Amino acid sequence: MTAQLIDGKIIAEAVRREAAEETAKLKAQTGQAPTLAVVLVGDNPASQSYVTSKGRACEEAGMGSITHRLPATATQAEVEELVRALNADPAVNGILVQLPLPKGLDEEAVLNLISLNKDVDGFHPMNIGQLVMKGRTPQFIPCTPAGCIEMLVRSGIEIAGKDAVVVGRSNIVGVPVAALLQNADATVTTCHSKTKDLPAKVRNADIVVAAIGRPEYVRGEWLKPGCAVIDVGINRIPDATKKSGARLVGDVAFAEAVEVAGYITPVPGGVGLMTVAMLLTNTVRAFKLQHGIA
Ligand code: GUN
Repeated sequence: MTAQLIDGKIIAEAVRREAAEETAKLKAQTGQAPTLAVVLVGDNPASQSYVTSKGRACEEAGMGSITHRLPATATQAEVEELVRALNADPAVNGILVQLPLPKGLDEEAVLNLISLNKDVDGFHPMNIGQLVMKGRTPQFIPCTPAGCIEMLVRSGIEIAGKDAVVVGRSNIVGVPVAALLQNADATVTTCHSKTKDLPAKVRNADIVVAAIGRPEYVRGEWLKPGCAVIDVGINRIPDATKKSGARLVGDVAFAEAVEVAGYITPVPGGVGLMTVAMLLTNTVRAFKLQHGIA
């Protein structure tokens, strides 16, 4: 069996087009464009490249984008002062502080400070709290987890009543994606480094979300035939056949998994593209919230 590819490029493009159309309407209505402020502290190369693609995506959708770069030596007070200024700036609709922050900075304190109605990353403890509580509706849903669900939904994959396994329990992906799957009526098992017999847990899953940050960790033989695999991993591994000497792989052994799964997201070209697309959706939402537009 060869799995059907869930194409992040096509789905992300559709989401980005929708955000661009909405932006054009809002501009016509208000004379202003939804605007995202991104804060990058330090010089982590992966973060730099993510931040560049976020800014570019905003511009391509007709949105405003401002990137604030602080040196790795920035103090907690300096980062907090910048977030406070962005909270107070009416021209800024969404605020995103790129993670991880350099060592020594208190991430929790910074995230706590972001205005709830500008928290386009959905990482404020109030947003996360509402996400994991039954019957509550968070103002914003974190972008990568929202992208995972969007890929399932737009591929026509049923979530309600299905068994889902999330491999990884990070605040950025594992925890929120497990909450979203549960909110969509899946029965969810979250697995991690202390999980007993991980292959057996994965084997039970109709939907597998791999978000552990280990290259090709989830093996094809662990999968239930026909399952849907959402691979959140982006890992750079050495490859002498490439000019750059490296290539990107996910957290799933793709060549094996594609023979067993019913649906699978590729890396690159999968979930990674969705993160930026969902950020645009959240920025449009933030603008509407602040302008009292339904
Ligand atoms: N680092 C890795 N993914 C993300 C994300 O979605 N948002 C932020 N702010 N930082 C990240």
